[in-house]
Amino acid sequence: MTPAERISELRMELDRHNRLYYVENTPEIDDRQYDMLMKELEKLEHEHPELDDPLSPSHRVGSDLSKGFVQVTHARPMLSLGNTYSLEEVNEWVDRCNDSLGNQGGMLSVPIVGEMKFDGTSISLTYENGRLVRAVTRGDGVKGDDVTENVKTIRSIPLVLPAGDWPESFEIRGEIVLPWKAFDRLNEERAFNEEPLFANPRNAAAGTLKMLNSAEVARRGLDAYFYYLLSDELPADNHYENMLKAREWGFKVSDVMTLLHSADEVDDFIKRWDVERRNLPVATDGLVFKVNNLRQQLNLGYTAKSPRWAIAYKFAAERALTRLIRVSFEVGRMGVVTPVANLEPVLLSGTIVKRASLHNADIVKSLDIHEHDMLYVEKGGEIIPKITGVELSEREEGSEPVKFVDECPSCGKPLVREPGEAAWMCPNKYGCRPQIIGRLEHYVGRHMMDIDGVGEENCSLLYDAGLVSDISDFYTLTTPPLENLERIGPRTAQRIVEGVEASKNVPFDRVLYALSIPFVGETVSRKIARAVRSMDTLMAMTREELVAIDDVGPRIADSIIEYLSYQPNVELIERLRSHGVQMSLPEEDLSDHTDLLKGKSIVISGVFSRHSREEYKAMIEKNGGKNSGSISKKTDFVLAGENMGPAKLEKAQKLGVAIINEDEFLKMIEAE
Ligand code: IVH
Repeated sequence: MTPAERISELRMELDRHNRLYYVENTPEIDDRQYDMLMKELEKLEHEHPELDDPLSPSHRVGSDLSKGFVQVTHARPMLSLGNTYSLEEVNEWVDRCNDSLGNQGGMLSVPIVGEMKFDGTSISLTYENGRLVRAVTRGDGVKGDDVTENVKTIRSIPLVLPAGDWPESFEIRGEIVLPWKAFDRLNEERAFNEEPLFANPRNAAAGTLKMLNSAEVARRGLDAYFYYLLSDELPADNHYENMLKAREWGFKVSDVMTLLHSADEVDDFIKRWDVERRNLPVATDGLVFKVNNLRQQLNLGYTAKSPRWAIAYKFAAERALTRLIRVSFEVGRMGVVTPVANLEPVLLSGTIVKRASLHNADIVKSLDIHEHDMLYVEKGGEIIPKITGVELSEREEGSEPVKFVDECPSCGKPLVREPGEAAWMCPNKYGCRPQIIGRLEHYVGRHMMDIDGVGEENCSLLYDAGLVSDISDFYTLTTPPLENLERIGPRTAQRIVEGVEASKNVPFDRVLYALSIPFVGETVSRKIARAVRSMDTLMAMTREELVAIDDVGPRIADSIIEYLSYQPNVELIERLRSHGVQMSLPEEDLSDHTDLLKGKSIVISGVFSRHSREEYKAMIEKNGGKNSGSISKKTDFVLAGENMGPAKLEKAQKLGVAIINEDEFLKMIEAE
C-alpha cells in the first residue's frame, strides 16, 4: 500500500470512528486504539506534507455538535490535551517544561499539579455577577452547544454563588460525569427494556447531556467536577490556588488534586492513583499534569491543538487474552438476537469473565472473529467486559469465521433486519419460546403487575407444563395443578393464586406497560394512560392523535398501532379485561380533571402557605397544564410563593413571563 493509500484509508477510518464516538455514542474502538490510528496518520502526514488536506481528521479536535441546540462560540477555544500511555513520556514532558523555562536538576523548579482525568464530557460554564448564565459543550473546540437547561438539573453545580471574592465575570471548565451507581442503574433499566446499553459512563453522560427532555436528564443523576478557571481577573497567579478558590465558591473540585514538587512525587502520584482510582465513585481514564504557575504556562504556550503546559497520562485498559469456546445467539423478549462470546474463564480486574456480549452482527464482522480464536477481553473501567480484538498469531489453521445465524436459534424462523438498524430480529413474536417467556416474565415483574410468587424461573416452568401460554392464562391458574409442579409446593401455589388476584387492582398505566408493546416503556405508558384514560380510547386512536400525546413520537405511535391491529393481541386484551384486569383509569380520578390550563407551561418557585409544592404540581397536571422546571420563552407563567429564587425572578422579568401568587392560581383553576 502506498503512503497516499494508507493516509486516505486512515482518514476514512478515523472519520468513521469520530462519528461513532461523537455523534452516535456507540464507539467500536477504545481511546488507545483511536490514538494509535491518529498517531499513525499524523506521522504519515508529517512525512508527506504534499498529501495534506485541511479536512483531515488530524486537523480537528473532534466534535460533539448536534442538532436541536443553539450553537455558541467559545470566548476562548476549548483545546484538548496531548496524551501519553507511558511514564517515561510524562518524565520527558516534565524535563521539557523545566528546560524550556531555563531550569535543571532533580527538584522541580516548575511545580506541577497532578489531577484525575475524569472520563465524561467537557463543559464550559460562564458566570456573571455570581450567576450561571451559560453552559456550553466543547463542540468542535471553537463552537459548542448551549445545554444550559440540562446543566441546571445537575445538583452539584451552583447556579447562584454565595457572596465571595469571585470575579464579576469568569468561565469555569470541567467534566460532566455519570457516577458508576447511576450508570449501572441506567443500564439495568435499559437492559430490562431491551434498549441498547451505554458502553461506558462517558457515552452515557454525553448522551444524557444532549437529551432534549431536561426532566429525563434530571432523573439520570449526572454530576460534575471542575478543573480549569479562566477570567481576566483571576484570584491567584497559579492554577492550584485558583481551583481552591473555585472549591470555596461551591464548585466540586476533586480532592485528588495535588501540588507536586519533584519528579519522584510525580511518579508516586501516578503509581498511587493508577490503583486507587478504582475506589472513586466516577470513571476516570487517566491523570492530568499541569504546570502550576500561570506565567510559566504562558511562556510554554500552545501547539495548534493543545497546551504545552499540560499533559494527560492515560491508564491502559485492563486486558486479558482467552479462548473463544463458541458464540451463542440469544433471543430477548422483543425478538432481538444478540451474539454472546462464551469464553474460557479468565481473571480480569478481580472478576472471572466467562461471557461477553458481541452486541450485533456488524461488530462480529468488524472484529473478524474466527472459531476458537484467542480474544482480547477488556474492562476499561466499564462493568461489562468487551471483546476488543483477536490475537491473529494464535489462530488455528483452517478455522472458519464465526457466522451470524440467519435463522432464530430458538424457533428456526428466518431472521429479519429493519433498514438502518443494527439488530437482527426473530419475527416470530407469538410463536418463539424465549420471546413468549420473556413477555410472561415482564408481565409479572415488580414494576408491572407485581405478581407475587411467579419469578423468572417459574414462568418457564408454567409455560413448559402447558399451564400458561400467554399472559391471560395467569388468571386461569388454580391451586391443584399448580402445587403438583416440581419446585412449587402448596404454599407457593397459594401465593401465586393470591398474587394473580391482587394484580386485578393494578392501575391501567402499569397494565399498558406490562403488555410488552415495543418501545412503550414505563414513563411512556404512564403518559399515554393519563392522556387516553382507557384502552377503548387508545384502540380507536389514529397515528396523528397518538403523536400529539406528550413524549409519544412516530416510532412509538407506529408500534402501538401495529400491536393493536394484530387480532390475537386484541383478543388477548379482551381476555384480560374479562378476567377483571384494569383497562381504564378510575372514574373518580377523572372528575377533578379539567382543561383549564391546557397547553400552559408553568414553573413553580418559592415556598407556599396554602398547599405544598407537590400539591400544586398535581393541580397543574389535573387541570391539563404542564409543570416545567425552568423558565424559558415558552413558560406561560410562574406560580410564585415566598422567597422565589432571585435567578428565576430575574429571568422571568427579562423574558416578560407573568408571575402569579397562590391565591391568583387557585382562582384560576376554580371551575365555574
Ligand atoms: S484540562 C487546556 N483537566 O480531557 C486544557 N481536562 O483530553 C483543558 N479532562 O477536553 C483540559 N479531566 O474534557 C483537564 N483534570 C482535567 C481533566 C480534563 C478530564 C478532559 C477534558 C478535556 C480532555 C482532554
